[in-house]
Formats: sequence, C-alpha cells, structure tokens
Amino acid sequence: MQGKRILLIVGGGIAAYKSCELVRLIRKAGGEVTCVLTEGGSHFVTAMTLAALSENPVHTTLWDLKNEVEMGHIQLSRQADLVVVCPATANMLAKMAAGIADDLATTLILATDKPVLAVPAMNVRMWLNAATQANVATLRSRDITVVDPDDGAMACGEYGPGRLPEPPAVLEAIQHALRGPGLLTGRHVLVTAGPTHEPIDPVRYIANRSSGLQGFAIAEAAAQAGAKVTLVAGPVDLPTPYGVTRVNVESALQMEAAVEKALPADVAVMVAAVADWRAENAGDPARKIKKDGSGQPPALKLVENPDILAGLCASPRRPALVVGFAAETHDVIANAQAKRLRKGADWIVANDVSGDVMGGTRNAVQIVTASGIEAIGQAPKAVIAQALIERIARAFD
Ligand code: C5P
Repeated sequence: MQGKRILLIVGGGIAAYKSCELVRLIRKAGGEVTCVLTEGGSHFVTAMTLAALSENPVHTTLWDLKNEVEMGHIQLSRQADLVVVCPATANMLAKMAAGIADDLATTLILATDKPVLAVPAMNVRMWLNAATQANVATLRSRDITVVDPDDGAMACGEYGPGRLPEPPAVLEAIQHALRGPGLLTGRHVLVTAGPTHEPIDPVRYIANRSSGLQGFAIAEAAAQAGAKVTLVAGPVDLPTPYGVTRVNVESALQMEAAVEKALPADVAVMVAAVADWRAENAGDPARKIKKDGSGQPPALKLVENPDILAGLCASPRRPALVVGFAAETHDVIANAQAKRLRKGADWIVANDVSGDVMGGTRNAVQIVTASGIEAIGQAPKAVIAQALIERIARAFD
C-alpha cells in the first residue's frame, strides 16, 4: 500500500474505536489516511484522536468555510485512491443505497469517482433486517464492496453477525480493493485442499498428513488475482484467505458433492489429498465400535472412494482448465504424465514429497502439460501458488 491514499469515513457506532487502530495499521503499511468523522462518529471517538494518528486534518462538516476554501469537498472525494467507510452503520448504508447526501460523509461518497469499500458494524437484528440486506445488495450491484461483518458477541450483549471485523482483516480488505482488476478478474476458480477424514465410527477416522497449506495458498493467490474463488476444504485449522468462499467438508463423498455444487467454474485446481479408501460400513453413525472381549480386532473393510478429479474431467460441466496435483516420492515426472492421461486433466502439478513437503512451508513442483514439462522449482508454497496462478492466467490469454 506504499503511497496509497485512503479517505476513511468514520461512522457513528461503538466499533468506531477500531477505526483508530485501522488508521495505525494503514500508516504502518505505508498508506496515507485522511479521516472524515460523522456527527454520530464524534460521539465515540474524537477528531483529535484521528488527527493525531493520521497526522492529517480531520474533516467533520460540509459547512466549514476555511476547509471549503482550502480544499473543496469534491476535491476531497477525488484525491484518494480508495474511500473506506468504517464503521458503516445501518443508517449510512441506507443513505448510500438511496443516494442521500445530507452531510459531509454522504456527500463525499456520492461525489467520489474512486472505488468505495464499506465495512458494516451494527446490532445483529439491524444487520439481518430485510431493509439492510436489500441496501447491501443494492450497493454490491453498484460495485461498492461491502465486507461481511464478523459473527460473535456484540457490545449490546447480543450474539450473531454484525461485528466489525478486526482491524488487520479490514486492512486486508483495503489492500484487496486497492489491487483493482487482476489477471483472473471475471473467472471462477475452484480449489480443493487439505486431507479428507473417512469415518470408521462416530469418534474414529482414517486421515492423512496433508496440511492444506498449498491449496489455501493457491486459493489466496487466485483471489488476489481478482478471481471469484470457491475453496472446498477438508478438515484443517487454517484461516480462510480474504475474498475466498470456503466450503468445509470432512469426507471424500462430501468433497465430491461440494465440487459438483460449486460448478460451473472456469478453472479447477484439485490440490486435496483425497483418501483413496473409506470404511465400507462406517457402522451405526451414533455408535462407537467397542472391544468385544474376544481379543480379536474388528475387521475393517475398505472400499474405493470416487476419484473427484477424474469425475470432474469426464463431466459435461468440466471447467475449461483442470489442474491436478501428484504427490510422488519417486519417478515423479513419469508418474505425473501417466496420471494426467489416466484422469483426463489438462495439467498435473508434479509435487516431489520425498523431503519434508507434507506439512512444510516449501514445495518443489513441475507442471506437466500436453506439450511438455515446465519447472517452477523449489520455493515457498505462496510463491509456487503465485507462479501457478500466473501460468493459469496465461493459458486463458
Ligand atoms: O491418484 P492420486 O491421489 O495420486 O491423484 C492426485 C490428484 O487427484 C490430486 O489432484 C487429487 O486432488 C486428485 N484426487 C481426487 N480424488 C481422489 C483422489 C485424488 O480428486 N479420490
């Protein structure tokens, strides 16, 4: 965000105190902030606080003769790279949707020719109210970015969606909005990631060591490239990258259904380490298998799971580009080439897992395509993800 200018409109809600921290974070990231404090906002934080943190004058009224002579409100609305409304109250969203300009903040929002990002914060009932939801839908249809509020305990004592996301998450949303259109804007990218858990009974399962890190990094890189991203994630404890729609699943059968439901997609990158087998009869799902005293272990019969990648490639709704992964410890390229043909994928990313790749932060990959082999080499998983996303974007060019 080095050198980027943010016009930060602080609305009238208790979450306004988080905007003070947001100003610090934007500045720490190299951005410049000019604050506009609404009448409501001034009941929660002072202009002095925001001026001290931003090291810029704070604007509070349309009718300030000195300000209007030095910098008219139209100019103020245009000199920023991004207008951020944080917190955006229900009232502010309603005014924005209706095009009302009855104070400095709403006038600037109406007058700006720059992208606008709104970060709502309000009581759960106010957020869920049909009027607010309709206003949010209207704003989104006009390309105003409205961040989804967090779920949780609220200052008013209620619980649910409506909390302002924590300042680092708001900073991420700002960085995302500042990026503008990317290499994959307008594309839908479907990513599978993580392991699957195959139940044996209600408390036991078959699993593998996949961390989900590489798949999550690819989903994040795709979102940063402007794509709409659906991430079908097996059970992993990783944060959802900004801008990614996450669908959590446990088993291979659930992953298969979630992939089907996420279609149509332009690209599928299947990174999940799907269990090859599941227990044939996972038993009465509510009953734990007990030792029967005979000293004999129970027999566990396995059946093969569907191959989600092969199924997707054979589907009439096949994405234009399907990329599979092949984690191999030996004959990496030969195995990947055979897998590409067997499964019908366009590319296989051959992944040498002979070292500490599984669960580690680095990876070593080569892309096997119909026309040959392209090396990405050894790099952190985030760098591999970016290189792969750039390669995918080139394929669409
Ligand atoms: O056959 P193998 O597991 O080595 O193939 C790996 C590739 O196939 C990965 O892209 C993985 O996500 C995908 N796969 C799948 N469904 C399975 C097994 C693998 O989608 N049941």
